[in-house]
Amino acid sequence: MSSVQTAPGARRSWRRRASALLASSSLLLTGLVVASSASPASAEEVTISDGTVTWGVRTSWRNYAGPGELSDGLTANAKGEYQWKVESGTYDDETRRLELQTSGTVHWSLHDGALDLTLSDLLLVLDGDEPQVLADVQSKSESTGEMVDYGVIPLTDVDLNSGDVEVADGTTTWSPLDTRLTQEGIRIFSGNYGSGALFDPVSAVYTGPGGKPEMTSESFAAPGSLGFGLDKTVTDVMAGVVTTVPDVARGVVHLGTSSQLQAYDADTLKPIGSPSSPAFFGSWNSYPAPVLHVGSGAIVGNSSNRVIARTWDPETKTYDTDQLLTGLVGQVAYDRFADRVVAITADSCTSSRSPTASGPRPRTR
Ligand code: HEM
Repeated sequence: MSSVQTAPGARRSWRRRASALLASSSLLLTGLVVASSASPASAEEVTISDGTVTWGVRTSWRNYAGPGELSDGLTANAKGEYQWKVESGTYDDETRRLELQTSGTVHWSLHDGALDLTLSDLLLVLDGDEPQVLADVQSKSESTGEMVDYGVIPLTDVDLNSGDVEVADGTTTWSPLDTRLTQEGIRIFSGNYGSGALFDPVSAVYTGPGGKPEMTSESFAAPGSLGFGLDKTVTDVMAGVVTTVPDVARGVVHLGTSSQLQAYDADTLKPIGSPSSPAFFGSWNSYPAPVLHVGSGAIVGNSSNRVIARTWDPETKTYDTDQLLTGLVGQVAYDRFADRVVAITADSCTSSRSPTASGPRPRTR
């Protein structure tokens, strides 16, 4: 094990460590004694002094809060991800534990200073037990308006299995690894992201040996987290979207406003073809919500007291329309066991096995 492995809460960044050492020589002595007695230096441990850790916090955060004010040598690449300069580090050949201490500061101030967040001196720890991105953090509390100095805390857990490590010509490169917000990180973003929220991937390149530690922990997501994260964001959608019908098997996501239905490519989230015309849904609301008939890809929903099936044609990039029944529609549901759509009106329950232009077969019970 490495001589610098400590519990996450007890980790101190190089700058904090340096100032604490200058401030108190007795602390210096105590610190040295504790460090050396806790874990003797390993013969396999190599020191690192040169490299870069790339981590942009979270893209949606930068879209909201901006790039921030960079200092202490911090820079950003073309994608806006911060380039943290490695100041020191260690790699243990035996355990393959890597620790990279960087320098650099990014500071955001928004809403007339109500939001005031500073991240400094990123620390990347890649070990098999608790791989994490840590930083020295100060963030103003939204509820009290007081500045809180959190010290060095783990911001994200890192998924070692989401990337790989390559060693060539004395340089080690870690390809981007997924990161997810820790429990400790929730407070500094004022609770706007849940534990386990996907943050920007972290990557690193440094001079020195490297390798992938063997995972000894079982789970990467924080306990109790949903494990969902932002994948893609659509920014150029038509206004007034009230419903979304994903048909990922066919590579399409259908977005509906109260007057139109538009297909989007499920991968790129760019619009395909033109919006449907005339209106798919009733002009007054989108209730009940439309459903996907998985077998045919038809979207079945209410349109001014009619049940309409609209089937996307990938060739012509248009929708075929079918009217299945008329009447006040209370509910439309998809029965996945029988691959049929069931519509409930005031006096009937109708099922349709193939609500397509070529052959809707409504049956009323
Ligand atoms: C007067 C105080 C504040 C106001 C008026 C405010 C306003 C907002 C608004 C309008 C959004 C939604 C932005 C969007 O979806 O486009 C938002 C999101 C957010 N706010 Fe604040 N906020 C305030 C304070 C704070 C504080 C103190 C923090 C702590 C760091 C914070 C962190 C966030 C985060 C993390 C998001 C989510 C950004 C994302 O989309 O990823 N806010 N805020």
